[in-house]
Amino acid sequence: MGVEIRVEGLTKSFGRQTIFEDVTLTIPAGEISVMLGPSGTGKSVFLKHLVGLLKPNRGHIYVDGRDVCTVSEKQLYEVRKRFGVLFQDGALFGSMTLYDNVAFPLREHTKKSESDIKKIVMEKMEMVGLLGAEGKLPGEISGGMRKRAGLARALVLDPEIILFDEPDSGLDPVRVAYLNQLIVDLNAQIGATFLIVTHDINTARTVPDNIGLLFRRRLVMFGHRDELLSSDEPVVRQFLNGRRAGPIGMAEEKDAAALAAEADEGHEVPDLPPIEPQLLPTEPLIRTSMRSPHGTHAFLLKERGEAAPHGNVRAKAKPRAGAAR
Ligand SMILES: Nc1ncnc2c1ncn2[C@@H]1O[C@H](COP(=O)(O)OP(=O)(O)OP(=O)(O)O)[C@@H](O)[C@H]1O
Ligand SMILES: [Mg+2]
Repeated sequence: MGVEIRVEGLTKSFGRQTIFEDVTLTIPAGEISVMLGPSGTGKSVFLKHLVGLLKPNRGHIYVDGRDVCTVSEKQLYEVRKRFGVLFQDGALFGSMTLYDNVAFPLREHTKKSESDIKKIVMEKMEMVGLLGAEGKLPGEISGGMRKRAGLARALVLDPEIILFDEPDSGLDPVRVAYLNQLIVDLNAQIGATFLIVTHDINTARTVPDNIGLLFRRRLVMFGHRDELLSSDEPVVRQFLNGRRAGPIGMAEEKDAAALAAEADEGHEVPDLPPIEPQLLPTEPLIRTSMRSPHGTHAFLLKERGEAAPHGNVRAKAKPRAGAAR
């Protein structure tokens, strides 16, 4: 099952540049959350704090009750094993084949035999549609394939928390649709806590249970999708609907004069579109943490005459191959 992440008063500056201040939120266990924000607002920096790669000036991050900002290097190493991370640039080792890249965390963190490793690597490669490309070097494949190899690598340790930094950037729309379905299905299967940074509005509107928005060095809002998608908060409204009218300008912030001019021009704030349904996992998977318009996703089980289990599970769960560490 996924683990809750509690962030309290997180503040980060690089020299005199303050990236964000006093960010406080709880990322719920086992749910999918998305973090949005204009380019340069510190989304990647935020993710790096969660795995202890960057230390804040102030604040705490509790993962299962342990503060990753203050733990020893040894404890941090243990905490990191619980994370699967896809960095924005994929961060593959250029001189290693895709196979070796994906196998790397298993060789580094487990004592599994090469035949067990092979089974897991091939399972994950298949999951992300890369079977047949195991022998390729990162430099020989497309950007989208590199993304998916990074995704496979993030999954090999059966993580309890998954952080994806723009998994969908540079992918064509069909691949993005497949990737989104993969994320929802994975969440149903492994029940990990997901935090995804994305610029794709459709992904942000349909995939997560919760949405957060970073802007002007602050976390403007973090909450359930319904709350954000129906919010009147001007920045949230502008961002989630991809509009020009609003406080966000080309260079991140509009100044007072630009906003006044916009008001003079009589830019009407258009009505909010209806909230589209959340993406369901593929049958027979269910996500009990998902609040559907019908109450909870567990209603699917009721319809099938099955008892609702606790947490996200595969309906009629089968033991998973390679699940033991
Ligand atoms: N190691 C670092 N040292 C100094 N400044 C940094 C460092 N890492 C990031 N920054 C700065 O912090 C700010 C936030 O960067 P970050 O990469 O988190 O933005 P982002 O929200 O992920 O943007 P994008 O959507 O373009 O990926 C930027 O101004 C960046 O230059
Ligand atoms: Mg980034």
